[in-house]
Amino acid sequence: MTDLISIARSFFVPGKGILAADESVHSATARLASYGIEAGEEMRRQYRDLFLSAPGAEDYLSGVILFSETLEQKGNDKKLFSDSLAERGIFPGIKVDLGTEPISTSPQELITQGLLDLPERLIEYKKQGAVFTKWRAVIRIDGDELPTASAIHENAKRLASYAKDVQMAGLVPILEPEVLHEGKHSRQKAKEVLVETLGTLFSVLEENAVDCSGVILKTSMAISGDKNQKKDLSPEVAEDTIAALMECVPRQVPGIVFLSGGQSTDEATVNLAAIVAKARELQAPWPLTFSYARALQDEALSVWQGKEENKDAARKVFIDRLKKVSAAVR
Ligand code: 13P
Repeated sequence: MTDLISIARSFFVPGKGILAADESVHSATARLASYGIEAGEEMRRQYRDLFLSAPGAEDYLSGVILFSETLEQKGNDKKLFSDSLAERGIFPGIKVDLGTEPISTSPQELITQGLLDLPERLIEYKKQGAVFTKWRAVIRIDGDELPTASAIHENAKRLASYAKDVQMAGLVPILEPEVLHEGKHSRQKAKEVLVETLGTLFSVLEENAVDCSGVILKTSMAISGDKNQKKDLSPEVAEDTIAALMECVPRQVPGIVFLSGGQSTDEATVNLAAIVAKARELQAPWPLTFSYARALQDEALSVWQGKEENKDAARKVFIDRLKKVSAAVR
C-alpha cells in the first residue's frame, strides 16, 4: 500500500495534471465525426498520437488515462504509447469500466458495468504498463426526481468494489462519480447532488474498508446545468465546489482531479483557477488539479481535422491550452 500511496501523491506535482484520453471506441469515433473526421482504427491511432506524442506535453502532464484499444497501439515512433509515455515520466493509466446501462428500476439513470472479470483484466493491464485505472459512474440531475438515492448508492457500491480490486492488483484507482452538467438545474442543486454523491461514496468506501489514502477522486465542479440561463461566476463555482468537497472528502485522500464536463475550454480553465485559489485560501487538505478530456483536446481537434499537414499547428494549440490549465493550478 505504501507504494500506491506514493504513486497517488506523485500525480500532484505543481503545475501538472492528467489528460483523459480514454474515450471508448464508440465515443472517440463520434467525437472525431463531430469534426468531420471519419474514423477507423488507424485514424483513432493517429488521433491518440497527436496528443500522446506531442513534444513538451511531459512538462504539464503527470498521467494520461488511456482506453484499452490505445494500450495496445504504437505511436508514429513505433513504440507502444504506454512505453513512450512512461519514458517521458508520464504515468499511463487505463479506463477499466465497460460503460453504462440503464437501471431497470429507474431507466432514466445509469449504472456502470465491468466488475465481473475485472481482476483478470487488471493483471493484463498491469503487464501492459498501466500504473493506475479509472472507473466512471454517471449521476444525472432532473428536477427533484433525479438522481434517486438508490442510483447514487448502487454506483457508490460498484466504485468501492472496483477500488478494492484495483488496490489489490497494485494499481491506483481513480474514482469518478460524474455529476452531469447536462440539464436545467441550478448551481445550488448541482452542489447538493455533489454533496449527496460524494458523501455516499466516502461512507460506502469506509464500510468496505477501502484505504482512501491510496485513491484519487475525480469530480465535477458545482456549476449550473448547461440548459440553465444563468452564467455562473468563477468565484461562485469555486465557493460551492470547495464547500462540497470540504464537507465530504476525507483529508487522507491524496488528491482530487476535475473533469471538464462539457464546459468551454476557457470556462474550465478559469473555474479551475478560482477553485484552486479558494482551496488555498481555506487551507483545503488535498492538492487539486485537472483531468480533462474535451477542455484539453477540443481546440486542437478543430485545427487538426484529421490531416497530417495540420498536426504541428494542432499540437501547438494543445500545448498552449496545457500551459494555461497548468498556470491555473499553480
Ligand atoms: P471531460 O473533461 O471531457 O468531461 O472528460 C473527462 C472524463 O474523463 C470523462 O470521463
